[in-house]
Amino acid sequence: MEAYIIDWLNLLVRWLHVIAGVAWIGASFYFVWLDNHLVAPKDPADDDKGVGGEVWSVHGGGFYHAQKYKVAPQQLPDHLHWFKWEAYTTWLSGIFLTALVYWYGAEVYLIDRSVAELSVPAAVGIAVLFIVGGWLVYDLLCKSPLARDERAFAAVLLLLSSALAWGLCELFSGRGAYIHFGAVLGTIMVANVFFVIIPGQKKMVAAAERGDVPDPAPGIQAKQRSVHNTYFTLPVLFVMTSNHFAMAYGHAYNWLILIGVSLAGALIRVYFVNLHKGSASAWPIGVAAFILSAIAFAIAPQPKEPSDTGASFDQVRNIIDARCTSCHSSTPTHPAFPVAPLGIMFDNDTQIVTDADRIYQQTVATRVMPIGNLTAMTDEERQVIDAWYQGLKKTR
Ligand code: HEC
Repeated sequence: MEAYIIDWLNLLVRWLHVIAGVAWIGASFYFVWLDNHLVAPKDPADDDKGVGGEVWSVHGGGFYHAQKYKVAPQQLPDHLHWFKWEAYTTWLSGIFLTALVYWYGAEVYLIDRSVAELSVPAAVGIAVLFIVGGWLVYDLLCKSPLARDERAFAAVLLLLSSALAWGLCELFSGRGAYIHFGAVLGTIMVANVFFVIIPGQKKMVAAAERGDVPDPAPGIQAKQRSVHNTYFTLPVLFVMTSNHFAMAYGHAYNWLILIGVSLAGALIRVYFVNLHKGSASAWPIGVAAFILSAIAFAIAPQPKEPSDTGASFDQVRNIIDARCTSCHSSTPTHPAFPVAPLGIMFDNDTQIVTDADRIYQQTVATRVMPIGNLTAMTDEERQVIDAWYQGLKKTR
């Protein structure tokens, strides 16, 4: 019953997380787009009012005319929309999900004892430390003189996030490491909204209400943070979908793949931001395409010589009974899985043979199953599956 309730919590909060994330990133992409499409106002009267730029658009059967003020309007309107709850809801639901799946379920999803011998409290403690520490380090960097040089700052950020990816992959299961990389970046993004962007806007609004000329400094800081956020977005979204791809997170060089795909994501965003500005050079997208193809090529499955030792099916059957069917069965015995994960069951020989490709992929090629190696599958057993699979391919 407990596992069933957790499944429902997982479903509802995940749903909310995706919805809030879509609303947040949708608005955020829209405003980046808007900023980069502004043109000087046509009407001189707008100029006098302090309007710096405007955009005309048509959407959903109506015409829209958005104007951006250089600093603030002389008179503030009664209602100002703030766009902050999308970000906060995304973070709250995201951290709840991380806690539910990866901390509460640490034994299954976070810890991999073949990577690092961690206890549950140690693993969860490290995870929290990374999330909080990530923000503290990043925030200090933004306030340091380094932030004045955009290129140097980007280089240091790349270096630090690479170290983060590597460190996480040395401590956690591939899946857990990837998600926590996303959690660190996602937390930085939301903390930027909470600690810098919104307080900066509050100061601007307060100054405008007093009739003072607002200090431009908070606006400049907010702009810097929202520029960073835009480049973090694609890497974070990759991570959020990565748990479907054992070929990436389960690879021996999973940390390098994570760095490569994240860098490609940031470069793709660079290209689109430049495109909005009307001056897109093709090199960022070219480099991104190169990185992605290089990774695809490097991790492609290698054809193996079919072995003649071909393990017997009985051996395979016994291994699967011992190591897999506690979860992958119509009547699982593992308390965390009242139903077979992803509906995959190995109750009879046909199911095993039909799923041979996936069994090989998960236990030999990526070694992500049994999950967290909870059923302690040995290397010899993986070799038996390998030999059986190679033999099977030969006869196909
Ligand atoms: C402790 C429970 C548990 C055990 C034991 C276990 N698995 Fe899994 N397995 C899971 C879970 C959970 C998932 C779903 C992962 C996800 O959500 O992507 C899964 C998914 C899979 C998938 C589908 C992967 C995909 O994304 O297509 C395969 C194939 C698989 N397991 C094979 C095995 C094999 C083979 C064994 C035994 C060597 C095994 N599993 C042992 C829990 C387990």
